[in-house]
Amino acid sequence: MKRLLLLTPLVLLPALSAQNRIGTGSVNELYQTYCASCHGENLEGGQGGSLVDDFWKHGSSDAEITKSIAAGFPDLGMVPWKGVLDDEQIRSLVIYIREQGQIARANATTAKTQPQGGVFSTDHHNFTLEKITQVEDILWSMAFMPDDSILLAQRDGPLWRHADGVNHLVEGTPEVWQHGQGGLLEVALHPDYAENGWIYLGYSENIGAKEADKDAGMTAIVRGRIKDDQWIDQEYIFRVPGEFHTSSGVHYGTRFVFQDGYLFFSIGDRGRMQMAQDVTKPNGKIHRIFDDGRIPPDNPFVSQPDAYPSLWTLGNRNPQGLDINPATGELWETEHGPRGGDETNLIEGGVNYGWPTITYGMNYNGTPLTHLTEKEGMAQPKHYWNPSIAVCGIDFYEGDKFPDWNGDLFVAGMASQELHRLVIRDGEVVKDEIVLKGQGRVRDVLSGPDGHIYVALNSRDPNYGELYRLNPVPSPQWQSLFDGHSLDGWDVVDGNSTVLVDDGAIVAVHQDREAMTYLVTEQTYADFILELDVKVIGDLNSGILLRGQHDANIKGGKSHGYQMEIDQSERQWTGGIYEEGGRGWLYSLEGKETARAAYQPSEWNHYRIEAIGETFRIWVNGVPTLHLRDDQTAAGTIGFQIHSLTPELSGGAMYIRNVRILSEDPVNHHQSTTLPAEDTREL
Ligand code: HEC
Repeated sequence: MKRLLLLTPLVLLPALSAQNRIGTGSVNELYQTYCASCHGENLEGGQGGSLVDDFWKHGSSDAEITKSIAAGFPDLGMVPWKGVLDDEQIRSLVIYIREQGQIARANATTAKTQPQGGVFSTDHHNFTLEKITQVEDILWSMAFMPDDSILLAQRDGPLWRHADGVNHLVEGTPEVWQHGQGGLLEVALHPDYAENGWIYLGYSENIGAKEADKDAGMTAIVRGRIKDDQWIDQEYIFRVPGEFHTSSGVHYGTRFVFQDGYLFFSIGDRGRMQMAQDVTKPNGKIHRIFDDGRIPPDNPFVSQPDAYPSLWTLGNRNPQGLDINPATGELWETEHGPRGGDETNLIEGGVNYGWPTITYGMNYNGTPLTHLTEKEGMAQPKHYWNPSIAVCGIDFYEGDKFPDWNGDLFVAGMASQELHRLVIRDGEVVKDEIVLKGQGRVRDVLSGPDGHIYVALNSRDPNYGELYRLNPVPSPQWQSLFDGHSLDGWDVVDGNSTVLVDDGAIVAVHQDREAMTYLVTEQTYADFILELDVKVIGDLNSGILLRGQHDANIKGGKSHGYQMEIDQSERQWTGGIYEEGGRGWLYSLEGKETARAAYQPSEWNHYRIEAIGETFRIWVNGVPTLHLRDDQTAAGTIGFQIHSLTPELSGGAMYIRNVRILSEDPVNHHQSTTLPAEDTREL
């Protein structure tokens, strides 16, 4: 009997704090009260369409969805909601619809990003994760020293120097005020470290200041040198008078980057959001100073009376990522939004980035913050995330280990446990790919001097910070199975149809009236990735035998086993698997419209077939058609079924070319598929 199990990848998603809030709060009540009757309790659709399938009849942008809700479609049965709901409520519904869509897509993403045999696969590079070290609290930032040691900033205070597999405590670093999200948040080497030895630390300090009788703190920056694991020569580079300290435990920002003798750094709004728009306050801003702490006389706000002189921008909520694009010299930033609306910004001096006047997010409890997402005189983000991923450290990748990623911006996501790769062209974000998911909260990302990418991950229980390295998996060693002019390495078995080579292709003619003919490899293969082009003409179906068997007890020794179907009939189940001489269809394409549409009858079609352990994955012309788990046969031949001619069918032929196989470590080169696995194992 055939058992069919649909594996739901959702169980792989660990508890995520910020994302746990999704679907809760008053916006959920709004939705259930006004919208669920037509669009379904889970937005799946009913009288009105699904709001989570990413298919928009009336426009997919935030502005168009807002308009759909506000103006309604009276002719189609949806009343205008403007007047019933205010602008803020409509805006929260748009964010809510985005969040729910994200949840619907999360299953597919989680499945796609799960490692196979320890290998993570992405659009361009496959990699493994190697643990380098761990510290006993949150690892917030790291920096590479020229002697290959790595400095690690542990949030509750300690600075470590990791060398030769051991973490050495650097003694004498400043005492940090570990309050809420505060602590030791940044470590970086001066660009001329080799000459001057300066190392910069960013942290939250308490200098005895109070706000409304409560202990208060703020971001400070020092520089010093390390000698024999002692912190020496310390100098203050930046600190804030006590009157500006706040008692809040949130939004410290505190990332920095050097450029042309300047030090750029960030301070979050410290939970006092209106201050982000106030030029007399240091909160919610990007700052620029000289690397020795002096104020540049041409800073954008210096001439304004009472303005905080180090300000470079305003309206930044909680910027925890800052880096220079090495190709253009531009300064890029990421900042946390509230619920929804995490941003990536291109930072320019004197610009207002809008928080809290404009935002793509809403309050955490689901109540509206503002309906404004843009305003004259305030910059738009280059990219934003709804729902939030909880953006943290960023890094433009520079290195030779992942050549196709060069110049891309890597972005750490904490709540989402994701590492994103943003492709930037002419100052615009043109692609956002998740390259890592579900391995822990990602706090920081950095290109190492060895060309590898390093990430700081955080396990929640226990709350340890871990440093991992992404190691590239080397290029695959493909082997050709067809030399283009002979049938060397192949046998024609079972029937008597003609197989020949013509014009660089194998041509198999459907001829034998009694028996199936098979063209099979002399060698057997266990785990492999097979790629080839096949064209079939005529009415007869054909197939590609995978791990073919020639066992005398079954079918009188005739070829049998897994067969990837090439289906010329109207149902077009090409790319499914039929077990010849066994259980019949293991994976048909019934009801799988996208997969069925991939096949072009009577044309050349490109196939990619992965048989790795008990997992089979197939793509037809790049479209995933099959994801199957089965445990019937572990190894066998590769072959082509040349169908016997039946009386009512007129004949045809099969053309085969560009046949190549990867049988050495194929698991390192497997591709991810968006299809859920169907399981036909005899469990
Ligand atoms: C009485 C039924 C009904 C209710 C209640 C209702 N809608 Fe609709 N909605 C519809 C119909 C019908 C359409 C148009 C579908 C079509 O074009 O086929 C629609 C379309 C939409 C669209 C555009 C979808 C697209 O594909 O572009 C959005 C967005 C939407 N509704 C959101 C809402 C929200 C938010 C609420 C609650 C405030 C709501 N609707 C309440 C019936 C309803």
